[in-house]
Amino acid sequence: MAELIDHPCVQHKLAIIRDEETGHKRFRELATEITKFICYEALKNVPTREVTVQTPVAKATCRKIDTDIVVVPILRAGVGMLEGILELVPTARVGFVGLYRDEETKKPVTYYERFPPQIRGGTCIIIDPMLATGGSTVAAIDLLKEEGAKNIVVVVIVTCPEGIALVEKAHPDVSIYAAAIDEKLNENKYIVPGLGDAGDRLYGTSH
Ligand code: PRP
Ligand code: URA
Repeated sequence: MAELIDHPCVQHKLAIIRDEETGHKRFRELATEITKFICYEALKNVPTREVTVQTPVAKATCRKIDTDIVVVPILRAGVGMLEGILELVPTARVGFVGLYRDEETKKPVTYYERFPPQIRGGTCIIIDPMLATGGSTVAAIDLLKEEGAKNIVVVVIVTCPEGIALVEKAHPDVSIYAAAIDEKLNENKYIVPGLGDAGDRLYGTSH
């Protein structure tokens, strides 16, 4: 399942982050702002438990989140979304997956993984600005499941039908939340129109 976050506040920021004139400082700020909105939606189904709180007036029946939240940025571009989700869930734990797309084969290469044990009973949120072919996301989900994770959600800024299809085929239990589902991939497996190379734009690097 892929859900598009079509809210005007998100779409306005998306227009600015896509713009090639937007520099890395603003790009980073926007990645944080957009992530917070998408994650707000992505977390709407996390388990809660009933609690009773004494207000200055009376007892109130309330709900609190009843699961460990583990955020898993895919290095390196996923780190650009970390601040946004931690503003929303400051107690979240953080695991890391190091993956890069081989420039020739376009296939993901894993170079790092480190997860907290709470991935097993908790809710894992993979963050990465781009879900293009889907190879990196599928590899990250594979690694998490091998370590015992059961509840996994993917939050991206931009994706496309090809990437969604790959993830849905390999992991039909995993939901994807995105601010944009673009038209297609180009011959270099970049999302069109996309926003270019997310890692380079976040960190001010270039090929
Ligand atoms: C980008 C992006 C995703 C991946 C998406 O990372 O951040 O991780 O490509 O492509 P896919 O869906 O086709 O696998 P990249 O490999 O450029 O590494 P970086 O984050 O280190 O820049
Ligand atoms: N990685 C990116 O950073 N951008 C794309 O469009 C595809 C993969």
